[in-house]
Amino acid sequence: MTIGFFTEENSVETVLGRNGPGANPRVVEVVSALVKHLHAFAKEVHLMQEEWEIGIDFLTRTGQLCGPERQEFILLSDTLGLSMLVDAINNRRPKGATENTVFGPFHVDDAPRRKMGDSINMDGKGETCLYEGRVLDLDGTPIAGAKVDVWSDSADGFYDVQQPGIQPKGNNRGVFITGDDGRYWFTGIKPTSYPIPDDGTVGKMLAQLDRHPYRPAHMHFLVAAPGYQKLVTHTFVGGDTYLESDAVFGTKASLVAPFDKVTGGATEWRSPFDFVLVKAE
Ligand code: BEZ
Ligand code: FE
Repeated sequence: MTIGFFTEENSVETVLGRNGPGANPRVVEVVSALVKHLHAFAKEVHLMQEEWEIGIDFLTRTGQLCGPERQEFILLSDTLGLSMLVDAINNRRPKGATENTVFGPFHVDDAPRRKMGDSINMDGKGETCLYEGRVLDLDGTPIAGAKVDVWSDSADGFYDVQQPGIQPKGNNRGVFITGDDGRYWFTGIKPTSYPIPDDGTVGKMLAQLDRHPYRPAHMHFLVAAPGYQKLVTHTFVGGDTYLESDAVFGTKASLVAPFDKVTGGATEWRSPFDFVLVKAE
């Protein structure tokens, strides 16, 4: 069939009609849906020429901000809810399993390996909190040898990697390995809510939309054990002002953890939480 020249009406069919016989089927599927939705979007909002230029400039500047230390495109995906949607599509878990949430840009691969019970706080700032619980499978059996990789912001709302030379390297992060009882425990600080980096294009977008850049206070956990699906999650501090308006849509009710005030203990707070992993297929 001859598609003919490009018109406003036949725009999608004309573009999709260019694919050749050697096209990769999955790329065709993804790009076809993208073109369909992109054209529908331009038609729905009656995209003006100047707005197209602003959009191109926005994406260009977003890319220019990306480098080894910063990934503005992921931040854009996070703030548009795309990261959490892709995470949800790819991590549908049975009832009882701990839910995933957004990974974020502040994990490091070489966090200090610490002894169970150690403190991850190295600058002495913040209110101390005992984090403890178990890593279990869906039947409630403890998982031995699970890697519990944790990281949080400082009392000032910054990760160590955001403040090299100000915070000690490895501050408020560490890797622990569970023993036979599947238990983990360590001292950290009660985290604080903090703004995502908002001095770039994403920050400008949020300002235009009258959205704040804050994330509710949370402790990050990456829990991995051989034979189990990797769990990328946080525990959130209940009662945080931003729980219902997380800038990156990462909050889930099941991840809001108890943070109990302790009197006369070794730490000022205690946050118990068990992680339940699902077997890998
Ligand atoms: C974080 O929780 O560390 C984070 C997640 C998404 C964007 C920015 C920060
Ligand atoms: Fe975070």
